[in-house]
Amino acid sequence: MTDPISRKLFQRAQELIPGGVNSPVRAFRSVGGEPVFISRAEGAYLFGADGAKYTDYVGSWGPMILGHAHPDVIKAVTSAAANGTSYGAPTELEVRFAEKVVELYPSIEMMRAVSSGTEATMAAIRAARGATGRDVVVKFEGCYHGHADFLLVKAGSGAATLGVPDSAGVPASAAGNTTTIAYNDIPALRELFSARGHRIAAVIVEPVVGNMGCVPPVPGFLEEIISLCQKHGAISIFDEVMTGCRVARGGMQERSGLKPDMTCLGKIIGGGMPLAAYGGKRAIMQNVAPLGPVYQAGTLSGNPVAVSAGLATLERLDAALYEKLERLSARLEQGLRTALERTKTPGCVQRVGAMLTMFFNEGPVRSWSDAQKSDTARFGRWHRGMIARGQYFPPSQYEAAFMSAAHTEADIDTTVSAAEEALREASA
Ligand SMILES: Cc1ncc(COP(=O)(O)O)c(C=O)c1O
Repeated sequence: MTDPISRKLFQRAQELIPGGVNSPVRAFRSVGGEPVFISRAEGAYLFGADGAKYTDYVGSWGPMILGHAHPDVIKAVTSAAANGTSYGAPTELEVRFAEKVVELYPSIEMMRAVSSGTEATMAAIRAARGATGRDVVVKFEGCYHGHADFLLVKAGSGAATLGVPDSAGVPASAAGNTTTIAYNDIPALRELFSARGHRIAAVIVEPVVGNMGCVPPVPGFLEEIISLCQKHGAISIFDEVMTGCRVARGGMQERSGLKPDMTCLGKIIGGGMPLAAYGGKRAIMQNVAPLGPVYQAGTLSGNPVAVSAGLATLERLDAALYEKLERLSARLEQGLRTALERTKTPGCVQRVGAMLTMFFNEGPVRSWSDAQKSDTARFGRWHRGMIARGQYFPPSQYEAAFMSAAHTEADIDTTVSAAEEALREASA
């Protein structure tokens, strides 16, 4: 049961904003609850409209790796804002930001700042199509790459299904050049390339999926994407909007030692402000306007306040922080696994670095069809039990939970006890 202040705000919001929210999953519909309205956040905690405190494992859907309202980030943002919030002209900050991104992501030789992950993936694919002169884009079922028309497509069953739009309002023609196959299905990928490799402009992949819950790649999957792209003259794109600076400072490409042709970044690199980026090989990025014929632009791209938040965050990502995140995340993973066992709940916990999902499904979950075997009704009951106990997890089975450096071992132990109680309640 949501607090009365949130409930009233939600009623007002629903009059004017579709579903009462500015991004659908915030509505808590898939867990059968109502959203808590947030009044402020600090460190590992969110505070609801009625003042109730929640330990936060959503972290604004990924960005808040340092915890909320980190003093250095707040200082950077306020001093940048005092100098003016937007100029629409280049700044030294943007140069420093690009230098930092390229330092952390050696596969990126040139990059462009944009304002959201959606823009980053859309623009990366436009650049890939421009560079190859080809149209077909391959994506994997269950991967989310933002809400551009041609990326809102998932497959029916079968090895390689031609795109069918997933959302009303997307013309079939916009989705017609998108081909979707199952995540982690290496044979299907090989088959697709041998049939249509000469038409493929790009393969875009979440190198660890967060958007069907946390699903790691099987050994060889990412390697195969890169090598097939190389062989057939297509462009490999790692969409590290979620995994970037999350599973390691240099994202999944650092963990795997792989170098995709292009990379999309967002979330953490913006430190909680609207900032994202796409980039990659110089030969591809030189096609982007004004250097080349691929047009892409943005009034607020590289905004000084956003870039300041991003830089302040990136500058604090050191080895000690990732060691701490690993220790805390492993503690949560083990605690949740034990809670599943003790309550005899069929489930599994999947984790890569500081992102994790407890699936209500024995697993292992390797693909979207595996993820869909989860008991989402039980997940919804568990989630409501967690909210009632001050534990704020993503309100969907098909999302990843995120750890921040502001969490403590005591926070996690409290969360694990609450999780066990909520599991007992959910199975009753
Ligand atoms: C992997 C991935 N790509 C792209 C996006 C889209 O980013 P944004 O919501 O900033 O448009 C998301 C958002 O969650 C994401 O997780």
